[in-house]
Amino acid sequence: MSYAKEYQNSIQNPEQFWLDKAKDLPWFKAPNKALSSSENGLYQWFADAELNTCYMALDYHVKNGRGQQTAIIYDSPVTSTKQLINYQDLLEQVASFAGLLRAQGVNKGDRVVIYMPMIPQALVAMLAVARLGAVHSVVFGGFSANELAVRIDDARPKVLVSASCGIEVSRTIEYKPLVDEACIIATHKPNKVIVWQRQECIASMQAERDIDWQVEAKKAIPADCVTVKGSDPLYILYTSGTTGKPKGVVRDNASHAVALKYSMQAIYNIAPGQVFWAASDVGWVVGHSYIVYAPLLHGCTSIVYEGKPVRTPDAGAFWRVIEEYDVKAVFAAPTAFRAIRKEDPEANLIQDYDLSCLDTIFMAGERLDPSTYEWTTENTGKPVVDHWWQTETGWAISANPIGIEPLETKAGSSTKPVPGFDVQILDANGTPLPPNTQGSIAIKLPLPPSCLNTIWGDFGRFNDGYLTEFPGYYCSGDGGYIDEDGYLFVMGRTDDVINVAGHRLSTGEMEEVLASHNAVAECSVIGIHDKLKGQVPVGLALLKDGADISELELQSDLVAMVRKEIGAVACLKQTLIVPRLPKTRSGKILRKLLRQIADNQSFAVPSTIDDPSSVAEIQAIMQENGLVKTIEE
Ligand code: COA
Ligand code: AMP
Repeated sequence: MSYAKEYQNSIQNPEQFWLDKAKDLPWFKAPNKALSSSENGLYQWFADAELNTCYMALDYHVKNGRGQQTAIIYDSPVTSTKQLINYQDLLEQVASFAGLLRAQGVNKGDRVVIYMPMIPQALVAMLAVARLGAVHSVVFGGFSANELAVRIDDARPKVLVSASCGIEVSRTIEYKPLVDEACIIATHKPNKVIVWQRQECIASMQAERDIDWQVEAKKAIPADCVTVKGSDPLYILYTSGTTGKPKGVVRDNASHAVALKYSMQAIYNIAPGQVFWAASDVGWVVGHSYIVYAPLLHGCTSIVYEGKPVRTPDAGAFWRVIEEYDVKAVFAAPTAFRAIRKEDPEANLIQDYDLSCLDTIFMAGERLDPSTYEWTTENTGKPVVDHWWQTETGWAISANPIGIEPLETKAGSSTKPVPGFDVQILDANGTPLPPNTQGSIAIKLPLPPSCLNTIWGDFGRFNDGYLTEFPGYYCSGDGGYIDEDGYLFVMGRTDDVINVAGHRLSTGEMEEVLASHNAVAECSVIGIHDKLKGQVPVGLALLKDGADISELELQSDLVAMVRKEIGAVACLKQTLIVPRLPKTRSGKILRKLLRQIADNQSFAVPSTIDDPSSVAEIQAIMQENGLVKTIEE
């Protein structure tokens, strides 16, 4: 089948296309109807199907002869641990933990928040929640107690699952005190906190509330799979929007399973039984989709890597894992390869390993700059596939569909739309633009399976944030263009979301933290280009009259505040004191203009500006301080 034909089928007859793809999964009751829409315009895929995602990922494989195949390889250079868990063992662990959750009152539809490092128990917890037909919400371990509390209040979990600590390169991060603090900050209180105790640090427990996983799971009665409807939610994953409040992206069971199963062959060209490695974290969407669900739904072996691309112990770590476990496809953020290149620019360490098992390197999470693309291709001799996606979609919107038909690549492009995604470039009025003209990237409705159809508890926010700007389309928040051959070039966000080392963060949220400093009258946070992390945030602050604080002192206060309120991953290291910020006459800071200056893009000064001279002034300050992207970058 050619890509063109497959793509055409998916756009011209989406319902039949996806019903056919659904046949590849073991349903309790297969879907009869592909797409339905309810009164508020909410699209649902496979609402009449009955299934259990954990059954599809584990029980089905054990029943069909994969019990002894390795399901998860846990490789942890930070604790010098290597462990193989087969499908049978994983199923037993998941069923026991599901039994433990059930004993704590977790039933179908209940939420469970999971705040864990990259250890197999994080996957066990997710799958156990799915087994009960409950809804998990995993919070990335690099987020602060405050961020965890915000998510607890929104998801209102019955139970919170955590571990005693996470291990970073040079320090152990105690998770339990963060969990305790989050439970104090949050208005909603989980009934129970289940803790996996790691030998690197034993957490102290609260007598009434806390449960020791290792002790109690042994006594639990294993739980069987609970049947859910296709449209029932599998998980909520919070992602950064433009405001301080993260958005709870809701993923349905059936459509998620269908899209991910399809993607393993169509996009990643992986067959059941092969080893797939997504070097991400279960706290991000890449981790949900390609460390946990897709490889297991497809009967593959997935790698859980608790380490970094560098410093654990060196820049050869990725090549070592690929050789050691016979990895067929690896998937990571470009920043990981930039980190490797920085430490091993001549790629000497690659020579120490045999990478013949590896077919393809996939990258996503941020723009893949042509120089990183070329360095990786030349030094590994492997094809590099850049693919574009979002937490909201749960899988790639555009990619080189090598499992359907490998297309020629173009540096800087994530190739062509994946079957199911009708991608269009629109101008500000929603009119489609001709080839090679930059505009907003939008996707014609209905979105294909796996994409969100609401924000947890707030359909209005989903509608306002994604569907109203261009009626009939989903607005991606990214800008870019499609060239004359149909290749998509994603150029960056058109809103206040930034990508720091492949981590999606909101500058609006950081602004809220900066604004709470008692010397700051007004502020703005912008993402500036960074050679390693792609982007890093920088603050621009205007002091209150009479405030007596040096730039250095303010900077150190704000760095500490952002670390405490959001987490170390936010990486806000620099704040400049400025005399004023460009604003409209109604007092709105012109953030888009600041972004354009930082990105060295041409810009039009809006007619509503309060004082046009403020633009040249801020541009000069940003230039003097090296905040403006240079041509070479
Ligand atoms: N738990 C607690 N803290 C964490 C954490 C976690 N899970 N992950 C990161 N942090 C901390 C780090 O320790 C660091 O703290 P520090 O400022 O005290 O050093 C801070 O958050 C920033 O982390 P990071 O951005 O990862 O920087 P780094 O210098 O440690 O590593 C890279 C740089 C490029 C190697 C690393 O960012 C990387 O591997 N990125 C790829 C990201 C990725 O896979 N994204 C998923 C999307 S596909
Ligand atoms: P997240 O929801 O964390 O996966 O972040 C999604 C955002 O990351 C997108 O909206 C893009 O801005 C960016 N992104 C992801 N993949 C790519 C890519 N291949 N090229 C350019 N930007 C990307």
